[in-house]
Amino acid sequence: MGLYSKKSERIDTENAFKIGPQIRSIEEQGKKVIKCNLGEPDFPVPEFIKEEVKRQLDLDNTHYCDPQGIPSLRKAIAKHLSETRGIQATADRVVVFPGAKPPIGLCQQTYCDPGDEVIYPSPGFPIYESFINYVGAKPIPVHLKEEKNFTLSDEEIGSAITQKTKMIFLNFPSNPTGGAASPEQLQNIALVMREKCSEEVRVFSDEVYEDILFDGNKHHSIISYAGMEKITVLVSGVSKSFSWTGGRIGWALFPTIEEAEIFKNLNINYFSCIPPYNQEGARIALESPLRHDAIYNMVEAFQARRDLVVSGLNTIKGIRCQKPKGAFYVFPNISGVCENLGVMDAFQSLPPNVRQRTSPSTLFQMFLLFEYQVATMDRKSFGRIGSEHLHYLRVSIATDTESLKKGLNRIATASLDREGFRCFIERGEHLF
Ligand SMILES: Cc1ncc(COP(=O)(O)O)c(C=O)c1O
Repeated sequence: MGLYSKKSERIDTENAFKIGPQIRSIEEQGKKVIKCNLGEPDFPVPEFIKEEVKRQLDLDNTHYCDPQGIPSLRKAIAKHLSETRGIQATADRVVVFPGAKPPIGLCQQTYCDPGDEVIYPSPGFPIYESFINYVGAKPIPVHLKEEKNFTLSDEEIGSAITQKTKMIFLNFPSNPTGGAASPEQLQNIALVMREKCSEEVRVFSDEVYEDILFDGNKHHSIISYAGMEKITVLVSGVSKSFSWTGGRIGWALFPTIEEAEIFKNLNINYFSCIPPYNQEGARIALESPLRHDAIYNMVEAFQARRDLVVSGLNTIKGIRCQKPKGAFYVFPNISGVCENLGVMDAFQSLPPNVRQRTSPSTLFQMFLLFEYQVATMDRKSFGRIGSEHLHYLRVSIATDTESLKKGLNRIATASLDREGFRCFIERGEHLF
C-alpha cells in the first residue's frame, strides 16, 4: 500500500503556475524576466468594482453566505446570459464557484464514470485533459490544425462522438490559440451534436474570454442554438473580463435546477461558500454601465499588442504566427527555429527518460527563459496527448508594450544563437 491513491498519480497540472518558481529563481539572480507566460490581464481591477468590494467590507458582509452563490449575483448572471445569449436563464440554474476553473473538474466528477469518453480541443486549456485522466474517463482530443486556422469543425466533432461520449468541451475564444467561433460554425456544431448526442451528454462551453474579441467581432455561444440549452453547461467569470483573477469568482449555468442543486451540494462539501464581498463586486461588474468602457479600453490595448507581436514574430526566420481573433495569447509555430537551432537533433539525443518529460518546444521554451529571460509556454502545456511532434509556443500579450518589444528582440536573437543553444543543452540543467 502506498501513501497516495492511484488516482492522485493521474492528475496533471497547469504549467503556467508551475513556471512561477523558475522565474523567481532567475529574478533572484538580479535578471529581469519578460513575462509572456501569464494567463491574466495585466490591468488593475476597474475602480467601480474595487469601490463596491470595499463598501461591502465596510458593511461587514464577511460571513458565510448562500453556497450556491448570493441570490443578487445569480440574478445578475442569469440576466446577463439571457440578454447576451438569447436564452431564458434563471438564477436557480446558476451556481457560483471560486473561478471558472473548478467547474471543469467538478463537472467531470459529476457526469463521468470511468471509461466514458470526453472530447476536448487540443491545444486547449490543460485542466480539461488533466481531470479526464484523474476521473478515469477516456480522453478524446480533437486536434486543432494550424492550416485550418485552429478552428474546430462540425466534421471533427462529429467523428469524435461515439455512444460512449459523455462530455464535450468547447472554448471560444480559446486559450491558447485565440480562435473564436463564427455563428455558422456553431450552428453546424450544434446540428451534429443534436444529431449524435443523447440528452445525457453535457457540452461544457468555457466562455471565460467572452469579452475579449478583436476587430469588432462579437461573441457567439453554442447555447444560443436550437436544442442546446438542454445539454449545455455554460461557464464564465470575472477573471479575464475584469482583470480580476484574484477575486476567484466564476459561474456555471446548468441545464436543470436539479443539476444546480448537485453542484451547490458539492460547494457545501468542498468550501461552503465564496466570499460575499467579492460576489457583490462581481454583481456590480455585470450590472454597472461602467463595465463597457472598462472592457473596451482593455480590449483595445490587447488588440494593439496583438498586432505588434504577431507582425514582430512573423519577421523572425523560422517563426510563423497567425492573428488571433480573441483572448490575449498568440500561438506561433516555431518548427523552423527548432530546425535552425538544432533543437530537433538535441531532443533526439536526450536519454529516453528525459525525452519523455520534455519536447523540442519545451527545450526552446527553457532556452528562452534561462538564457534570454523571456517566459513563454510550450505546446505540451496545452494537452499532452498527440503533441509530441507539434512545435508551438504560447506567447501571452498580457504584458506592457515596452516589455513585449524587448521580448520580441530577445526571441529574435535567441532564434539565431546556435552556439548558445548547444552550450545550454550541454549543461543539461533546465531541460523540462
Ligand atoms: C480557458 C480557460 N478556462 C478557465 C480558466 C480559469 O479561469 P479562473 O481563473 O476564473 O478560474 C482559464 C484561465 O486561464 C482559461 O484560460
